[in-house]
Amino acid sequence: MSNVHVIDHPLVQHKLTLMRRRDASTNSFRRLLGELAMLMTYEVTRDLPLQDIEVETPLELTTGKVMDGKKLVFVSILRAGTGILDGMLSVVPGARVGHIGLYRDPKTLTAVEYYFKMPGEMQERDIVVVDPMLATGNSAVAAVDRLKELGPKSIKFVCLLAAPEGVATLQQAHPDVPIYTAAIDRELDSHGYILPGLGDAGDRIFGTQ
Ligand code: URA
Repeated sequence: MSNVHVIDHPLVQHKLTLMRRRDASTNSFRRLLGELAMLMTYEVTRDLPLQDIEVETPLELTTGKVMDGKKLVFVSILRAGTGILDGMLSVVPGARVGHIGLYRDPKTLTAVEYYFKMPGEMQERDIVVVDPMLATGNSAVAAVDRLKELGPKSIKFVCLLAAPEGVATLQQAHPDVPIYTAAIDRELDSHGYILPGLGDAGDRIFGTQ
């Protein structure tokens, strides 16, 4: 699959396995998701441009490299995206944040938008869309469709787990959007859950259900 980055670092894989466990508590699930998001951000931001600035060390003046974190927007697909967002913000604290509220129609499994709030000047920004589960891909496609209307510089999609069906749907609709994930699982079940998966990510993050 082109334009799909499976982050196979041992720390990422180890933490993902702990999150899959049925008996992982809400507390440890949320903590592990935050840690995974931090680790994944390292790969997701690898190609961000750097600029030179002057910096005065205790000994002399030199040149250092910095990235412009404020040009980045993390767009969280509510509500489960929030669990990834916190970890990413802890390593890129200057990033701006947008939210898209989408719910999945239980009958058609299509995405219905109920909330959309973005920072200004989106044409100058690089967007990272976050949602822990790329299942049918319908929400991801709807989010990217909507964000492309704003004309951003670039869009990436970050999830924790993907189903092959979701990867195919997103890639077919938006082949220019790279997908970053910790794993691609076997398949979707008839309710749109990823198998073997980790269950309902939102419920596990927030302790609902
Ligand atoms: N959303 C989830 O939270 N879990 C899945 O398995 C699929 C979609």
